[in-house]
Amino acid sequence: MPCVPVLALLLVMHWSHILAWDSLSPSCRCDERMKCVCSGLSAVPSVPDQTKTLDLDFNNITKIHRADLRPLRRLEVLKIHANRVCAMDPQAFSSLWSLRELDLSQNLLTSLDHRWFNKLGALESLKIHGNPYKSLGSPPLFQTLFRLRSLSFGGESLEEIHTSDLKGLGGLEQLRVDANNLKRYDPGALSQIWPLDHVTLSLRSLFLMDQTLVSALIRDVSHPETEVTLENIYLKDNRSALPLRELAQGRVRHVAFNNFFLTDETMVKLLEVTDGAPIDTFTLNNVTLSGVGRWEKAKWTDHKSLNEFFIRDAQILNNFDFTSFLPLRFLLTYPRKISVINTKVFVMPCLTSMIFKNLEYLDMSENLLTDPTLRQTLCEGMCVLSNLRVLNISANTIKSLSLVSRLVSSLSKLSHLDVSRNSFGLMPPTCPWPQSLRFLNISRTKLTSATTCLPLTLQVLDLSYNNLDQLYLVLPALRELHLTGNKLLTLPPGWLFPNLQTFTLQLNTLNIFSPSDLQSFPRLQNFQAGRNKFICSCHFVPFFHSLANDETNVTLSDGIDNYFCDSPLHLQGKLLSSVHRSFTECHHVMFVSICCGLILIFVTFLGVILWRVHAFWYLKMTFVWLKAKKRRKWRKERENGDTEGLLVSFDAFVSYSERDSAWVDNYLLPELEQTGSSAESNTASVLDSSPESEPELRAEARSGPGLEPLRLCLHRRDFLPGRFIMDNIVTAIESSRRTLFILSQNFVKSDWCKYELDFTHFQLLEGNCREDAAILVLLEPLSHDEIPKRFCRLQSLLSSTTYLQWPQDPDQREQRDHFWTSLRQALSPDRDLD
Ligand SMILES: *[C@@H]1O[C@H](CO)[C@@H](O)[C@H](O)[C@H]1NC(C)=O
Ligand SMILES: *[C@@H]1O[C@H](CO)[C@@H](O)[C@H](O)[C@H]1NC(C)=O
Ligand SMILES: *[C@@H]1O[C@H](CO)[C@@H](O)[C@H](O)[C@H]1NC(C)=O
Ligand SMILES: *[C@@H]1O[C@H](CO)[C@@H](O)[C@H](O)[C@H]1NC(C)=O
Ligand SMILES: *[C@@H]1O[C@H](CO)[C@@H](O)[C@H](O)[C@H]1NC(C)=O
Ligand SMILES: *[C@@H]1O[C@H](CO)[C@@H](O)[C@H](O)[C@H]1NC(C)=O
Repeated sequence: MPCVPVLALLLVMHWSHILAWDSLSPSCRCDERMKCVCSGLSAVPSVPDQTKTLDLDFNNITKIHRADLRPLRRLEVLKIHANRVCAMDPQAFSSLWSLRELDLSQNLLTSLDHRWFNKLGALESLKIHGNPYKSLGSPPLFQTLFRLRSLSFGGESLEEIHTSDLKGLGGLEQLRVDANNLKRYDPGALSQIWPLDHVTLSLRSLFLMDQTLVSALIRDVSHPETEVTLENIYLKDNRSALPLRELAQGRVRHVAFNNFFLTDETMVKLLEVTDGAPIDTFTLNNVTLSGVGRWEKAKWTDHKSLNEFFIRDAQILNNFDFTSFLPLRFLLTYPRKISVINTKVFVMPCLTSMIFKNLEYLDMSENLLTDPTLRQTLCEGMCVLSNLRVLNISANTIKSLSLVSRLVSSLSKLSHLDVSRNSFGLMPPTCPWPQSLRFLNISRTKLTSATTCLPLTLQVLDLSYNNLDQLYLVLPALRELHLTGNKLLTLPPGWLFPNLQTFTLQLNTLNIFSPSDLQSFPRLQNFQAGRNKFICSCHFVPFFHSLANDETNVTLSDGIDNYFCDSPLHLQGKLLSSVHRSFTECHHVMFVSICCGLILIFVTFLGVILWRVHAFWYLKMTFVWLKAKKRRKWRKERENGDTEGLLVSFDAFVSYSERDSAWVDNYLLPELEQTGSSAESNTASVLDSSPESEPELRAEARSGPGLEPLRLCLHRRDFLPGRFIMDNIVTAIESSRRTLFILSQNFVKSDWCKYELDFTHFQLLEGNCREDAAILVLLEPLSHDEIPKRFCRLQSLLSSTTYLQWPQDPDQREQRDHFWTSLRQALSPDRDLD
C-alpha cells in the first residue's frame, strides 16, 4: 500500500513536468525566416538556437538571466518591449555578437548597467525609453556601441542628463529623448551628437515649468540638417511658446509637433518667434486647438519659406467658429503641399482656395466634404487651383463621380486623383477628365460596374474593394491595375491592357486561370491573386507550381502563402503550393477502367480457382445440409422427439455411380431385395447377357426363402422426380437406416456420390446416427493414391471403418457367399436392437 502515494507523487511530478514544458514552447511561433514571436510568458522562453528575430513584446517577463539568451548567437533582433523586466544579469547579452536591434522600452528597469552593452558591437538600434531610471548611470553607457544609429532613452522618471552620459554616440542618426520631468541638463550634452537626422523630444510639462532648460535642450538639437519633432507639448500661454525661438535660431527646416495643445494666443506667439525662419515643412500630428483662428496679429511675420503644411488628426475645439482661412493669407499663399487629414473639415470656401496659388498637392482625406461643399472647395470647376497635380479627397462623403470628374476637368496639370472611400455606387457612362490624369484611385466606393467613364490616359487604376464582377474596357496606357476585393470570376482578357505590368486580384471569386490567360498580358510582371477560391484541378496545380518556381515571366508578388484550394472538398483550405494531384485523381476514367479490368481478371481467376477446388460444390452442399438440419430440427420439435420410427422407411440407401448400375441391378438388388422365386426370375432375365449369372443362382440358393428382403433406396427408382436432386439425396439418406457406398473407380469420379458420402459423413460427425450408418463396399481394390484429394473423407472413412470387398473373381464362390452374408448382416435392421 505505501507504493500508492509514491506512485501518485510520481504521476503528479510527471504531469507538472509536462505542464511546465508545455508552458514554454507552444507560446512561440517561428517562421521560415527564423523570426519567433512569443506570447503569454513570464520568463524568457527557449527557442531554436538559429533564431534571428525574437519578439517578446507585451509579456510579463521580469528577469533576464545570464543563460537565457546565451545559445542565440545568431540573434539579430531582440524585442522585449512592454514587459516587467526589473533585473538583468550584467552578462545577459554577452553572447549576442550579431545583435542589431534591441528594444527594452516600457519596462521596470530602475538603473542601467553599461556592462549589458559591452559586447554588442553590432548594435544599430537601442530603445530603453519608458523605464523608471533617474539617470543614465555613471560610466557612460553607450561608449562601446560604435555602430549605434538610433537611440531612444528617458521616461517619466528621468531627472538628469549629464554631458558625459552621451559620450561615444558620434554616429547616431536618430535620437528620441523622453524628458517630461527633467530637472537637470548640462547645456551642450546633446549637441555633442552632431549631425543628427532626426530628433524627437518629449517635453510635456517642461514648457510650462522650466523654459530655460527647454530652451537649452532645443538649442542643442536645432540644426538645419536635423528634423525636429517635439512631442507632448502643452502651450497654454504666450510665454510657454518662447523656447521655440531656438528652432528659428538653429535654422531648422523641418519641424513637427505631435500631441500638441495650443491656443490662438500661443499660435500667434509661435508664428512670431519663428518669423523669418527657413522652415520648409511644418507638421502637426494630433493637435488640439482651442481657438477660432484669430492669427492675424502675426500678419507681419514672414513665412515665405513654408513649402509643406501637414496637419493630421486635429481637433478644433470651437470648430464652427473657425470660419475662414482668409486672414491667414500671409501664411497660406506659399505652401505647395497642403495636407489637412482627419480634421473634420466640411468645406474650404472658394475664396480660400483662391489663396492657394502655388498649390500642387492637396490632401483633404478623411474629412466631411460632401457634393455641395466639394463644389465650393473647387469653385464650381473654375480653374482656381491651376497648379494642382495631386488631389486627395479620399474618405469623405462624396456621392457623385460625374460631379468630381466635372470639377477636376479644368485642372489641367492634375495627374493624381484619389477619390477612394467615398460612396459613388454608380459610374456614369462618360466623364470629362483632364488630359494629364495618370493615376486614379476609386477603391472602396461601392461601384457595381466600370464604364468608359475611365479615361484612356490612366497608368494606374485602383478599383479594389468594389462590387465589380467584370472589367471589360480598353485602357491602353495602364501599367497598374488593382482589382482586389471584387467579385471577378475570371481574368479579363489581356488585350484590353497591353501595357499592364502589375495586376492585383486578391480576394475575388476567381476559380482558376490558365497559362494562356496570363500570356494574353504581354507585359505582365507582378501578379497577385491570392485568397481566391481556387479549384485545384489537375491542370491548375502544375501550372501554379511553375508560376511559384518562377518558370514564367510573371511573379506572384503577394507570396505563394496566400494561395489556397477551395475545391475539391478534400483539398479545401490547403496551401496550393503544397498540393499535388496524383495520377488516380487526374486520370479518373483511365484509373477506373484499369481498376475494373483488374477486378474482372481477378474475379475470373478466382472463379477458375474456386471451380478447380470445387468450392461451389461445397457451398451448395453446405447450404442443403443446413436446410436439412433445420428441417430435421423442426420435425423433431413437432413430433416431440419421436423421430426414428416415422422417418426410417428404407433399410439402406445405396450410393453408387451410374456406371456401376449393372452390378447393382444384377447382383445387389437380386441378392438383397428379393427372396425366393421372384429373385430367381429377375436374375434369369439377366442371365443371357451376364456371364456371371450362374453363380447368382447359387446365391439364391444360399439366401434361401427364409431371409427377410431388405428395402433398398435407389436414386434411379426411389427419388421423387422433379425435386432438386440434392434434396432427394438428403431425404433418402435421412429416411434410410444406413447408407451403402458402392466404391469403385467410377464412384470417385462421380460428384453425386461424393456428395452423398459427404452428407453421411456430416451426419456421422453430428452424431445424428450410429457409428455403422455408413457401410462401404469396395467393388474393386482402390489404393489410397487412386482416391482423389477431394475424397479425403473417403480416405478417412476407409481407414476408420471396416469395409467389405467384392470378390471379383467369379470362381471364388465361397468368398462371394461370405460377402453377401456379411453385407446382409451389416444391413440387418435387427442390429439396431443391439
Ligand atoms: C500579465 O499579468 C497580468 C496580471 O498579472 C495579466 O492580467 C496579463 O494577462 C498577463 N499578460 C500576459 C501576456 O501574460
Ligand atoms: C501675451 O499675450 C498677452 C495678451 O494676450 C499680451 O498682453 C502679452 O504681452 C503677451 N506676452 C508676451 C510675452 O508676448
Ligand atoms: C493626442 O494628444 C493628446 C494630448 O494632446 C493625448 O492625450 C493623446 O493620447 C494623443 N493621441 C494619440 C493617438 O497619440
Ligand atoms: C490619400 O489619402 C489616403 C488616406 O489618407 C491615403 O491612404 C492615400 O495614400 C492618399 N493618396 C495619395 C495619392 O496620396
Ligand atoms: C487607393 O486608396 C486606398 C484607400 O485610401 C489605399 O489603401 C490604396 O493604397 C490606394 N491605392 C494606391 C494604388 O495607392
Ligand atoms: C519572357 O520575356 C522575354 C523578354 O521580355 C521574352 O522573350 C520571353 O518570351 C518571355 N517568356 C515567356 C514565357 O513569356
